[in-house]
Amino acid sequence: MVKRPKIAIVGAGGNVGAAVAHWAAVKELGELALIDLKGDVAKGRGMDLTQCSPFEGFNNTSFTAGGDAAALMKDADVVVMTAGVPRKPGQSREELINTNAGIVKGICETVKTAAPNAILIVVSNPLDAMVYVAKQVTGFPRERVIGSAGILDSSRFRTNIALAVGASVEDVSAIVLGAHTDKDMVPITSTATVGGVPLTKILSAEKLQEVVDATKKGGATLTGLIGTSAWLAPGAGTSLMVESIVRDQGRLLPCSIELTGEFGVSGCFVGVPVRLGAKGAEKVYEFELSPAEKDAFAASVKANQELMGIAKSFL
Ligand code: LAC
Repeated sequence: MVKRPKIAIVGAGGNVGAAVAHWAAVKELGELALIDLKGDVAKGRGMDLTQCSPFEGFNNTSFTAGGDAAALMKDADVVVMTAGVPRKPGQSREELINTNAGIVKGICETVKTAAPNAILIVVSNPLDAMVYVAKQVTGFPRERVIGSAGILDSSRFRTNIALAVGASVEDVSAIVLGAHTDKDMVPITSTATVGGVPLTKILSAEKLQEVVDATKKGGATLTGLIGTSAWLAPGAGTSLMVESIVRDQGRLLPCSIELTGEFGVSGCFVGVPVRLGAKGAEKVYEFELSPAEKDAFAASVKANQELMGIAKSFL
C-alpha cells in the first residue's frame, strides 16, 4: 500500500503551528496530525484549513487533530515542534527559556516513545537551546533533531538585501548562521551574492551594516508591530524544511544542529548550512568565514553554550 508521509505538528493551535500546517497542506506534503494542548483549537485549525482546499485545489481532507499527543503522533515520519509561549514586545527569545524548556521536554518524551523513528524539527524558542533539550530527551541521532531558524533569518536577510539593492529577491543568495538571537545571529555578507555578483561590490559598507542590523532585529521588529511573534515566514520556512525531507530534495538550508567538529566546534547546537533529505540533516557544509564572521560565530557558540547550560537544569 502506498502511504503518504505522516507529519505531526505539535502546537498546531498556535499561530506558527497553524502556519506550518497551512503551507504543508497547500503543498500536499503528507497526512497531517495537528496536536495542541487545546485539542479543540487544533481541530478547528484543521477544519478551517481543509475548507480552503476547494478554493486552492489541494487535497487535505484526511487530517487528524486533537489533544492526545501520543496517539496522534504515533509513528509519524516528521514531527514539527512549535509548542511553547511566543515572544511579547520587548522580550528576548532567551527570556522564554524557563517556560518553554519544560514544555519542550515533556513533548519530546512523548516523541521518543510514540514516534521513535521520526525526524524532529524544533521551532520553539530559544531555538538552539530547545534543539539541545530535544536531542537530550529523545536520544535521537543528530541528523534527526534539527532546529528551524536559520532558514527564517536567511529569508529576512535575503528580503532586506533585495530591498536595499532594488533587485529581485529571487536573485539574492545569502545565509544567516549562528544563534537564533537578536544579539548573536551572524548574517554572512562575505559570500552573499545578487545574480552572482558579490553583495560587497553592490552595497557600501554602511548600507551593508544597515541590512545586517535590520536582519538581526527582524523578529523583534515584527513582535513590536504585531504584538506577538511572527508566524507566516516562520511557518513557510519550516514547511520548506519538511518538504526537503519528505520529498528527499537535498536542499541546502541553514539549520541548527549539534556540531561534532565542524567549524571547529563540538557539542554545541548552532545554525550551519545543512543538506536536508530523507535521512534528515544529512551533511553539514563547512566553508571559510571572514575574520569578523569567525569572531561573531564564536560569540554565537559561546552564547548558545550558556543557554544550553541553563536548559540543562530542566532535564
Ligand atoms: C522569529 C521568531 C519566531 O524570529 O523566533 O520571528
